[in-house]
Amino acid sequence: MADARNAAPPDFRDGFALQDLPDGGKVLGRVDTEDVLLVRQGDELFAVGAHCTHYHGPLAEGLVVGETVRCPWHHACFSLRTGEALRAPALDPVSCWRVERVGGIAYVREKQVAPAAGPVQRSSGSRSLPASVVIVGGGAAGLAAADMLRRTGYEGPLTMLSADDSPPSDRPNLSKDFLAGTAQDDWIPLRPAEFYAERRIDLVLNARVARFDPQGRSVQLGTGKIYQYDALLIATGAEPVRLDIPGAIDSQVYYLRSFTDSRAIVARAALAKSVVVVGASFIGLEVAASLRARGIGVHVVAPESQPLERVMGPEVGRFIRRLHEEHGVVFHLGQTVGRGDGRTVTLTDGTALDADFIVLGVGVRPAIELAERAGLTIDRGIAVNEYLETSAPAIFAAGDVARWPDPHSGDRIRVEHWVVAGRQGQTAARNMLGARERFDAVPFFWSQHYDVTINYVGHAERWDRIEIDGALDARDCAVTYKRGDRTLAVATVSRDLLSLEKERVMEGRG
Ligand SMILES: Cc1cc2nc3c(=O)[nH]c(=O)nc-3n(C[C@H](O)[C@H](O)[C@H](O)COP(=O)(O)OP(=O)(O)OC[C@H]3O[C@@H](n4cnc5c(N)ncnc54)[C@H](O)[C@@H]3O)c2cc1C
Ligand code: FES
Repeated sequence: MADARNAAPPDFRDGFALQDLPDGGKVLGRVDTEDVLLVRQGDELFAVGAHCTHYHGPLAEGLVVGETVRCPWHHACFSLRTGEALRAPALDPVSCWRVERVGGIAYVREKQVAPAAGPVQRSSGSRSLPASVVIVGGGAAGLAAADMLRRTGYEGPLTMLSADDSPPSDRPNLSKDFLAGTAQDDWIPLRPAEFYAERRIDLVLNARVARFDPQGRSVQLGTGKIYQYDALLIATGAEPVRLDIPGAIDSQVYYLRSFTDSRAIVARAALAKSVVVVGASFIGLEVAASLRARGIGVHVVAPESQPLERVMGPEVGRFIRRLHEEHGVVFHLGQTVGRGDGRTVTLTDGTALDADFIVLGVGVRPAIELAERAGLTIDRGIAVNEYLETSAPAIFAAGDVARWPDPHSGDRIRVEHWVVAGRQGQTAARNMLGARERFDAVPFFWSQHYDVTINYVGHAERWDRIEIDGALDARDCAVTYKRGDRTLAVATVSRDLLSLEKERVMEGRG
């Protein structure tokens, strides 16, 4: 009998027998040279590109929910009907083909031109479309908002003011493949330069906003230049917490937030044999993994007893620690850095470590000073309602800065996740145009350490029980964080489909 796993994918031009495709089922095949996913939903058949437009994730291993398919890697969501990228992190559509049914056979015919997303459904009573929009911030939330405004047909002036010196970048990559040397420079910009001109997005770089005036509806740069707005999005993200290490010289100390920061570390690493990473946070540990891939000796210094314990619990913490130790990282836990001398750093227990350079990954702080000074309501972040509106009229906030009422946990939460920032930018954009759409996405993040990726859905700041199904050491497991009978969050390793299923259940779509 032929082994189905080794069978060539079916050519959908030749037809596919529907008896082999149950309702709700999907099958991977080909059309000409392209990989195509054929999906059956009731009487309807859909054919879409099989690779996610974010990082090329295999949609055939994803989850079909209604008329959408979700990517197993970072949970992007595409319309099966139009191919549109409905939810970040993917921003570009997948291709769509027309499917014809002849008797019990489905034939995939010609590729279809993707229809424009079309204007948002405006809720009754919403104010008129904004005469102009200003976005402060050129990160995940800011770009996703600008993209969505244009995608949904907003024609007015649209300005993005970014303190960065590079156009919006793939920030998560900066501590992973780019830092490890396996991603090139041109992978990092989220959009090519032409995108901004074609969409008439006035992207202004090196433009740090110094203040804004909610009454006068204007923002002012540090240079004094003033921009008027009719609607404003604050998406200023977060900034690394700075730490003074007595005796360390400035040129020895690095932080990682921007493309420029990552390039600086790459350049320094090329000349170095040893690095001390201060902080066993996600970013600190990803930096450790990437610098090990460059063959540098890595010491991680952190005050906690296990890395990531506060966020993911002791079991995951121990697993992550072992994983890094297997790759040669040396941990100094329960320690902080006492002082440096330009070549070494001395820990609080007196241990001296060689440190050609030091990377500080000791957390971030939301960039909320502007909002605070402008009198917006602050709640350990910028307080927003379910529509991502701040306390000031026509001002929205999204991404790392925003604390919102999360319907799943019942708490007001603020998270620092790439996918959440992109999705909030998209929702804020639609709400600027009158959609009145609640932000109710289940938080999701991922983190990558060597060949292990952890996916995490939900939000658990405190739990009373952790259940582990499978084995962390076998790199095949689901870790569930519970309070009482409620599942707050689920972390998975090598169980991407389960992560999507948990997301769907948490959304209340059973
Ligand atoms: C190295 C690294 C790796 C990461 N990896 C992951 C990961 O694997 N998974 C994950 O879920 N998350 C990850 N994150 C977190 C994720 O990148 C953030 O949650 C996300 O970028 C937040 O998006 P944002 O738009 O809110 O802010 P940002 O992307 O930080 O963008 C903020 C923007 O605002 C600008 N700005 C700030 N102040 C001003 C001002 N006054 N005037 C004008 N512009 C201003 C900044 O210059 C920047 O352009 C990572 C972060 C870093 C730094
Ligand atoms: S590869 Fe699909 S969401 Fe990232």
